[in-house]
Amino acid sequence: MVAMEKTASSYYTLYSCDNKMIVPFVAILIFIVANSSSTNALDNGLALTPPMGWISWERFTCQTDCHSQPSNCINEKLYQEISDRLKEDGYSAKGYNYVNIDDCWSEKQRDNKTGNLVPDKERFPGGIKGLANYVHSKGLKLGIYGDCGTKTCAGYPAQLRQDGVLLDNYFEKDAALFAEWEIDSFKFDGCYILPDRAERICPPMADALNKTNRPILLTCEWPFYMLRERPNHKNPDYNLTKQSCNLWRYYEDVEDSWLSVLSIIDFTISMQEEICAYHGPGAWFDPDQLVIGNFGLSLNQAQAQMAIWSIWSAPLFMSNDLRHIQPSMAAILKNDKVIAVDQDRLGIFGLMVERKGKFELFVKPVLPIKENCPTFVLAVLYRETLGNSKPYLVHVRDVLQGIPPLMWRQVADRVAHLEPEHKVDPHTCIKQIVSAMTVVPKIPQEGLLQPTGLPIRPPPIQETSVYYQIEDLFNHTLDEHKVGLNSSFEVFVNPSGVRLVKLTKID
Ligand code: GLA
Repeated sequence: MVAMEKTASSYYTLYSCDNKMIVPFVAILIFIVANSSSTNALDNGLALTPPMGWISWERFTCQTDCHSQPSNCINEKLYQEISDRLKEDGYSAKGYNYVNIDDCWSEKQRDNKTGNLVPDKERFPGGIKGLANYVHSKGLKLGIYGDCGTKTCAGYPAQLRQDGVLLDNYFEKDAALFAEWEIDSFKFDGCYILPDRAERICPPMADALNKTNRPILLTCEWPFYMLRERPNHKNPDYNLTKQSCNLWRYYEDVEDSWLSVLSIIDFTISMQEEICAYHGPGAWFDPDQLVIGNFGLSLNQAQAQMAIWSIWSAPLFMSNDLRHIQPSMAAILKNDKVIAVDQDRLGIFGLMVERKGKFELFVKPVLPIKENCPTFVLAVLYRETLGNSKPYLVHVRDVLQGIPPLMWRQVADRVAHLEPEHKVDPHTCIKQIVSAMTVVPKIPQEGLLQPTGLPIRPPPIQETSVYYQIEDLFNHTLDEHKVGLNSSFEVFVNPSGVRLVKLTKID
């Protein structure tokens, strides 16, 4: 056992450390490859677009007192009633198809004979398998929660026996139990483990899930705990994270407030290029749950969360009470056009490319491809919380010129992979955009030469023939419906609100 632990931890060292570390362990690596089919690479083919569904945490937290809170506690009835709402109120038809249990679902101890996790007997009398049958009968999928440390964040049994001791864990045992219960998704939290050990200890959960032969979506949280570690935080190895998880958290828990949503937006912008480089089909950064329809967000703020999460191609997991939700909030969550932005198959992480005062402008290239260039979705976020709606002037060429080479490369690569019949040629698109500002040289006519020293009237700017149809995705009114590359258009944005518009090339 001890030799095995050493072997496996050394295997991981190979991923994360410098070359000096690699050499002494080559022999061990050969041993591993020869002796196991382990890959630590999640191989489930899931989440080609950002996953969508519902999760209990933000709204229902760890309320286990079902006597005083019968309809707001973590029990099987909650997940059944939410499944009913997802199905009957049309959320699942829009794509919200995971129903995810979060913390506090199990007994406080494993079964002392079998060592298995046991669902709380009072709150889940039908067991998790019974609940899975119910959820599946609605055409939905069931998710469950655990933790890569010795306890879950709320102190329930988790997947590691002893911190720091690799392989002394319940990964395979619990993965097998989840598969037996017909679980479809697993959130693997990162409490009660030292963050600097997490990358050695947690990734093999991917392998444990692979071994069940049941496709189980895996959400990881260790990257967040690594990034949060103070004072010496370590950047996660995102190649490893991508290999091991379908989605992963990178920032604090969302709460039911605009300040919380804004703090996620700020942190995400602070690392946006890095996210953009790794985020995509099968492997997504997760900014956490949608809190739309709860107590804290106004309608404008709710639209803003929905719009920015969609610009980011973020997983869309609502945490709210779908049994009691205002129709206007439900309409935001079910807005087809906005969901389509989130679910765009290119899965590009949209970037904030322009900041003017309290306005921030985001851009996301999406399908369809027209004449070798993508369609664009723009979001204008107005962070002011004082006063009236204000206009924001979007200069189309400037915005599109703000798209960095990394993003163009992602678009070109993903189009080549997903739609080989089309081709995105960044050069053509960039040339088109740049040429919209080409100055046509004015050929001076004889006799009309101006004396040196006098200002020459600026020559006209050449208009290109590229025009876009503009569409507002929350159905606000737009004065213009058509715009050229060299033109601008104005949108009025409400305080702590957003405008989301799509620019589709006109043939
Ligand atoms: C952590 C996670 C939350 C939730 C709780 C449960 O805080 O980040 O999303 O799962 O644990 O205890």
